[in-house]
Amino acid sequence: MLTKKVEEICNRQIEREGFSSNLYLAMASWAETKGMAGIAAWLYAQSEEERVHMLKFIRYVNERGGSAIVPEFKKPPVKYKGIPELFAEVLKHEKCITASISEVLEAAIAEKDHATANWIQWFVKEQVEEESSVQLILDKIS
Ligand code: FEO
Repeated sequence: MLTKKVEEICNRQIEREGFSSNLYLAMASWAETKGMAGIAAWLYAQSEEERVHMLKFIRYVNERGGSAIVPEFKKPPVKYKGIPELFAEVLKHEKCITASISEVLEAAIAEKDHATANWIQWFVKEQVEEESSVQLILDKIS
């Protein structure tokens, strides 16, 4: 059974992963309308990954006796300045998500919830990969 604190922070993360999915979807759509099919494809794939992240949290909260909440999401920006700015924004966003995942881990440790502390490690590793792949793209284009 999740403690209230861990349940709440996991629900916060559901919102953040869902927003990430919509943010990358908005970016993908923008890139597609600008004729950048390759970049759009990468962003559409990222959007799908983020949706899977959100689902992982939803399923985990419910599996552990909590109640996952599907929230409303803030509308992501419609327009972007350009490709380097867009990827800089993706990296900045992923760094925020990394910090957010760390807070979930810290809450789990504080609550002595070893199962969640162990489960969240997948996301810790995933964030390393995501930041690194975006950094690689930024290095290539700047
Ligand atoms: Fe699921 Fe890239 O954060």
